[in-house]
Amino acid sequence: MDSMKTILLSTVVLLITSCSTEFTKPVDQLTIERQTLIKHCLTCHSTVEMQRGPLLQGLEGWYLEEQLEAFKEGSRGGDIKDKNGQLMHSAVKAFSDEHLEFAAEWFANQPRPEIKAVVKGDITEGKELYQEACYKCHDHPMGKFFSRSPDLYKMEDWYLMSQLRAYKAGWRGVDPRDTHGIKMRAALQPYSMKQLQNIVAYLAQFKEKPEE
Ligand code: HEC
Ligand code: HEC
Repeated sequence: MDSMKTILLSTVVLLITSCSTEFTKPVDQLTIERQTLIKHCLTCHSTVEMQRGPLLQGLEGWYLEEQLEAFKEGSRGGDIKDKNGQLMHSAVKAFSDEHLEFAAEWFANQPRPEIKAVVKGDITEGKELYQEACYKCHDHPMGKFFSRSPDLYKMEDWYLMSQLRAYKAGWRGVDPRDTHGIKMRAALQPYSMKQLQNIVAYLAQFKEKPEE
């Protein structure tokens, strides 16, 4: 009986690891089809070429997947004023859901590259504002789960700024299908860009959620 259990358990472990190793493999060890897919993403999502999109390695897989779906259907990146979003919309609209799911999981399982903070601001005010205005959705475990909010500590500060500007300008979080983005956009309304910049400067000090 015990040996049966051991066999079953090791089969399960083997199955799990053989699936996950595909996601942790470096790009040049993937199948040719998947290499082509990931290299396509990396033309914009890396620091090698002129970087246009954010670095995706080590971000949350579920969030990457939701955003890819949104870009594909055009509920994000569908506005002609949203130049960056449109670029991304055209880059992925022809891919199958399976390809996009693979890309999301692959990026999520790659090590996060070293990130340089570039946004300056009042960190003390930023911390207070973050606790008051953002924590309940982006950080509190229940709030984060139910509102489907991503972890902001991991993101590049310039990219956070660009997204906050996009919400403020009304290029993001306005499509009726984008129910999560609409809530996010509403949450920003009471705050000025200067205040939001202070929040970003506070967040940029961390690589991951700090101990409380
Ligand atoms: C032609 C350039 C280009 C290509 C190719 C491209 N992207 Fe993007 N991507 C962008 C840009 C630009 C943005 C930022 C959009 C914005 O500012 O709203 C972006 C944003 C994203 C986001 C949103 C991240 C976030 O936190 O908001 C995800 C996820 C993403 N891309 C995944 C991918 C994947 C996966 C691929 C390959 C299948 C890919 N992209 C290919 C340019 C590109
Ligand atoms: C009511 C809940 C809620 C509050 C409060 C809130 N957010 Fe969000 N935020 C969200 C959700 C949900 C998303 C994901 C939207 C989507 O799925 O497109 C998001 C997305 C974002 C993004 C885009 C991240 C990316 O990579 O695409 C940024 C930046 C952001 N929030 C910053 C903030 C800041 C800063 C505050 C505080 C001033 C804040 N949010 C307050 C719910 C909230």
